[in-house]
Amino acid sequence: MHNNPLPRLDKYPEIRTQLLGLCRLKQGDIWVDPVFGHKVACMDASDTASIIALMGDDRAALAIHDPPYNLVAFETRSLDEYIAWSRQWVSATISAISLDSSLYVWLGADQQNHFQPLPDFMVMMREFPVQARSFITVRNQRGYGTQKNWMAVRQELLYYVRGNPVFNVEAEYTDIPKTLRGYYKDVGGERTENLERSKAETIRAGNVWIDIQQVFYRLEENVSGCYAQKPLKAIDRIIKASSKPGDLVIDFFAHAGTTLLAAEIAERRCFTVDIDPVFCEISIRRLEHYRQTGRTGWQNGHAFEHELQHVNSYRTRPALDKNGTNDGAKKRSAVWQ
Ligand SMILES: C[S@@+](CC[C@H](N)C(=O)[O-])C[C@H]1O[C@@H](n2cnc3c(N)ncnc32)[C@H](O)[C@@H]1O
Repeated sequence: MHNNPLPRLDKYPEIRTQLLGLCRLKQGDIWVDPVFGHKVACMDASDTASIIALMGDDRAALAIHDPPYNLVAFETRSLDEYIAWSRQWVSATISAISLDSSLYVWLGADQQNHFQPLPDFMVMMREFPVQARSFITVRNQRGYGTQKNWMAVRQELLYYVRGNPVFNVEAEYTDIPKTLRGYYKDVGGERTENLERSKAETIRAGNVWIDIQQVFYRLEENVSGCYAQKPLKAIDRIIKASSKPGDLVIDFFAHAGTTLLAAEIAERRCFTVDIDPVFCEISIRRLEHYRQTGRTGWQNGHAFEHELQHVNSYRTRPALDKNGTNDGAKKRSAVWQ
């Protein structure tokens, strides 16, 4: 088996620069899928005019957004700037969704900095014509920060609705078997317990999801080079619960193209956006690779493996650290996925 993953592209900007030459989109371009009508656009999500052009007469039943969280040291802006920027892309989203639609937003909370930006984002959302519906927590397997604190293992997912959108309860079951007996109730003069009364063999998804494996390099769905990939299972759960086959789903922060692929598999159309041509290209290639091979990612290879066969030869210097330098490099070896 070959082993030729790409390193994280945020840590190796020179590799990202090499890949730019292999991208079919540049700023402002839109790729239209000839098979199912998906679109991938290289745009700034906060530019409402570009988003309106992308949407044309189409309106989405569901938006699933996973913006940068303002947590990575060398990408952070001031909180005010981050919220002002968020206001712009949420505003663009409102122009792109139908009157009965759902909006899901993944967002982080920095526990070392007053949990920013999550609470400020929640307050900002009150300006928009949407209702808060749920605050979902997804449990990660790997955590951090255990020395003098509770291990941080959660990801936050906000669920808003506009109007009265579809919510498909049948799709909302996990694959965790029901095991707990009890909760006795008399039905028709007979004493029954909960397992007899329930229709499903598995537990219904609540607003704490503990059954979703984080993406890591051993999984087939891993897209090497990406550093913020969401699990297909989480996106699939959202899509099945909050849209119908044939509906349009939007995602303005495509990255590894997870929403695009999950939409294809669930037979929804997807318009997705990324400001970076490399992530637009990875998203398109992930869809094409799935159609050709049935595989959902590149466990041991990468999206550009036909053009860049020996990524290891690009291993010219250690990874950037969180300050955007490689000052700490001598103390540790380079980070590879
Ligand atoms: C957290 S990642 C999204 C991960 C994605 N959900 C997945 O599963 O792969 C955020 C992405 O947003 C993109 N991005 C950052 N600023 C943007 C902007 N203003 N407009 C569009 N995309 C942007 C980044 O290039 C990055 O790929």
